Amino acid sequence: MHTEFEEKGVSLFVAEAGSGGEKVRIYFDGQPLDVPAGTSVASALLMSGVRTFRSTPVSASPRAPYCMMGVCFECLVEIDGRPSRQSCLTQVRDGMAIKRQKGASALNVASAEG
Ligand code: FES
Repeated sequence: MHTEFEEKGVSLFVAEAGSGGEKVRIYFDGQPLDVPAGTSVASALLMSGVRTFRSTPVSASPRAPYCMMGVCFECLVEIDGRPSRQSCLTQVRDGMAIKRQKGASALNVASAEG
C-alpha cells in the first residue's frame, strides 16, 4: 500500500506480506487509505507512507511519532475535527477523518469554562 505521502527510506512499519484481515477506510488530509482494522492511527499512517504528522508551532518543523506509547506527544493529529489527538493511542475506525496538524491547535475556551 503506497500513497502520495510516501517518502524515500526504509520503514519499520509495513504490513506483513500476505496479511489479509479486515480493513477499514480512513481519510488522511482527504485521501482515502485502506488500513488494517485494529491498528493505531499512528501505525496505520506510517504503514501508508505518511512521515509528517504535524508541524511545530514556532519553526514549523515536521514531526512524526517517536515513542508509540503515549509519552512524547510527537504524533498529534486532528481526528474527526478534534485537534491534538495522540494518534499512537487511538484505534482506527471506518470513516475516520484525520488531518495533519499545523502549528498549535486553537483553544476551545467555551469547553474549558465548563
Ligand atoms: S508517539 Fe509518542 S505520544 Fe504518540
